[in-house]
Amino acid sequence: MIKAIDFGQLYREHLTRSGRVFKTPSDWDSKAAKMRTKVLDSSYRTDFVSRMQYGAQDTVLDVGCGPGTIGLALASQVKQVYGLDYSQGMLDAMMDNAAQLGCRNVEPILVSWEDDWSAVPICDIAVVSRASIVADMNDALDKLNQHARKKVYMTQLVGGRFVSREIEELLGREDRSFPDHMYIMNMLYQRNIYPTLDYLESPSRFAGCSSAQELIERVGWSFGELSAEDKEKISAWYQRDPEYARKGGEPTRWAFMSWTPPAH
Ligand SMILES: C[S@@+](CC[C@H](N)C(=O)[O-])C[C@H]1O[C@@H](n2cnc3c(N)ncnc32)[C@H](O)[C@@H]1O
Repeated sequence: MIKAIDFGQLYREHLTRSGRVFKTPSDWDSKAAKMRTKVLDSSYRTDFVSRMQYGAQDTVLDVGCGPGTIGLALASQVKQVYGLDYSQGMLDAMMDNAAQLGCRNVEPILVSWEDDWSAVPICDIAVVSRASIVADMNDALDKLNQHARKKVYMTQLVGGRFVSREIEELLGREDRSFPDHMYIMNMLYQRNIYPTLDYLESPSRFAGCSSAQELIERVGWSFGELSAEDKEKISAWYQRDPEYARKGGEPTRWAFMSWTPPAH
C-alpha cells in the first residue's frame, strides 16, 4: 500500500500550500558576505561532520554549499571537494574561505538543482546541508544518487518551519510549514533505499528570553503584530513553565539522513 502513494506529488502539494517563494541566486549573493564566516564556527557544522564517514581518498560533492560550511570542514581530510551552488556570491565566499584556510583542493561549480547535471562530477560522497527545499524532490534524489558512489548525507528542517511550532499553534496561526524529511524518507523507501535517521538540535530562535515581555517582543518580530489576546497567551505560556520558556520551547531540529545510493 505505502509503495503506491505518490510522495513526490504530496511533496509538491505541500510545497504549494506553504506559499514558499523561491529565492533567486542574487538573493543569496546578497547574503554571502554575512554568511561567509558565520557558518564556519557552529555546533550544527560540528554535529553534521561528526556523523559522516570519509577517508583521505574520497571526493565530496557539497550541493548548495553556500560559503563552504560542510565542504571546507572536510577539505583537509579528503582528496577533493566540489562546492555546487547557483549563487556566484556564495561560491566566491567559499573560495575566499578556502584560500584563508590554505585548502587547494576545493573547486566551485556554478549550477542549480534544476540544471542539467551531466557535467557535474560523480563523487564518492554527496552532501546537502540545509539546501534541499527544491520544487521537484524526485529529480533532486535522482541527481544525488547518480552523483554519489558511496554515501549521501542530507539535512532537512523537521516540521518545515523556522518559527516555533508551539508558538504558532498557541496563537492559532496558519500552518505555513514546507515539506520536511518525512517525504524524503518515504521516497527513498519506495526506491528500496533505507536511510539512517538522526537529529541535530540547536536552541529555539526564542531561546534566552529572561521575561515574558521579552518573549512577546521576539515573537512579535517573527510573527508580526500581536493582539492583546496573543500577548496574554504568550505570557501565560511563559508563566506555566518559565524554565522551559527561557529555552524558547522545543529546540530547532534538523533531520540528518544518510544512505547508500544504488550501485551505478
Ligand atoms: C541555507 S544555505 C546553506 C548553505 C550551507 N550548505 C550550510 O549548510 O550552511 C542554502 C544554499 O543553497 C543555495 N541554493 C538555494 N537554492 C539553490 C538551487 N536551486 N540550486 C543550487 N543552489 C541553491 C543557496 O545559494 C545557498 O548557498
